[in-house]
This record gives sequence, structure tokens and C-alpha cells, in this order.
Amino acid sequence: MPDRYFNNGWFGRHPSAYEIASVFIAPLRRYAARIAGRSPGRIIDIATGTGANALKLAQLGHSVVGIDLDQEMLAKAHKKRRSHLDLDFMHGDGTALPFNDDTFDAATISFAMHDVPPEIGVGILREARRVVRPKGRIHIIDYNDLGSGFGARLLYRVARFYETPNYFGFVRGGVARYLEAAGLTVDRKRHFLGAVQFLSAV
Ligand SMILES: C[S@@+](CC[C@H](N)C(=O)[O-])C[C@H]1O[C@@H](n2cnc3c(N)ncnc32)[C@H](O)[C@@H]1O
Repeated sequence: MPDRYFNNGWFGRHPSAYEIASVFIAPLRRYAARIAGRSPGRIIDIATGTGANALKLAQLGHSVVGIDLDQEMLAKAHKKRRSHLDLDFMHGDGTALPFNDDTFDAATISFAMHDVPPEIGVGILREARRVVRPKGRIHIIDYNDLGSGFGARLLYRVARFYETPNYFGFVRGGVARYLEAAGLTVDRKRHFLGAVQFLSAV
């Protein structure tokens, strides 16, 4: 297994730069949180990174736990905790979540699927499905499939310089095969300028 296989893109190696870059996609996170927030209650943010997505959900009043393998990213996430928010972070593997079946009302996975090898991505989705109650939704926010149009191709021209090798297979092959392998069905898909997709699956 390569060193830090789970987070070996440029931003993964520079968590402080990731925090700064994250500021620019804050509107996307707000939008994503509003979508996921339609499944109220307890939400798990898998591969939470520096916790920006988890924070937005907690600010909408949800009970949120963020989980990630990378301690450096988590150190930044912990700083986002506030006494008035129901927000917690923990170290753990998204492919082996330390929770019982049906613990959560929904799961979110933002900008993480493209980072990991397909078998890890499918493993994360299977675990999300296990820990989310029946009919609860799994929300995926990530790069849109390259075949989806101009916006995706334009973002690709930039992202190819800093993303992990896994990114190329993800955007070329499309996210549908990950979902299918995990037994999930997309019941709603939206996108931002064709470049980023917001999927809700059950
Ligand atoms: C690009 S970051 C995205 C972080 C965050 N979700 C966001 O929207 O900014 C991808 C994250 O996935 C995490 N990750 C990769 N594989 C993982 C796994 N198997 N379990 C938990 N976290 C994982 C990495 O450590 C990294 O923090």
C-alpha cells in the first residue's frame, strides 16, 4: 500500500492550502448542505477532511459526526467545533465505519470519491448504505463526469494538475458504476455549471 494512499493528492499533502482553497467553494458547500439538510437528524460526513462540509450541516441544526483517516486534516476539523453546535469528529476508515446498522438518517461524502481507488470508493458507499437507515439518503458531492459537458471538461483542464491519479478514472468512467456496485440508486441529480455534481442516492 503506497504511503498515505488515502490522501496523496497535492491538497492532501498540504492541509493548510486545502483550507484556503476550500473558502472558494463555500457557496457549493452551503448548497450541498441545504440539499442534505432535507434529510433532517443525525448525519455522518464520511471522509470529512478539514470538516467544512460537516460544519455547514451542523450550522443548519443537524447532529453531525465527521470521520476521516487523515489526522492532519482532522486536526483542522477539530478547530471547527463550537459549544452551540452538535458537531463531532473522529478518526476512522470510511470502508469500516465503527457504527451499528441504521445509526444515521443520512450520509454525505464530499469531494472524496474522486480521491480514492474505485474499490475504496465502493467500500465507502456500501458502508454508508449500511449505517444509514432504510430510505435515508446518501449525498455525494464531487467532480461531474467528464462526458457530462463543457463545464466538466473546463474544470478538468485545471484539476488534472493537482488531483490524484484516481481522479482520472473517476471523471472518465463516471460515478454511476460506483453507485451500481454499492447497490445504490440515484433519485436526484443536480449540478453546478456542469462542473460539480450533487447526487442523492438511496
Ligand atoms: C479531498 S478531501 C475532501 C474532504 C472533505 N470531505 C471536503 O469536502 O473538503 C478527501 C478526504 O478523504 C479522506 N479519505 C480517503 N479515504 C478515506 C477512507 N477510506 N476513510 C476515511 N477518509 C478517507 C482523506 O483523508 C481526505 O481527507
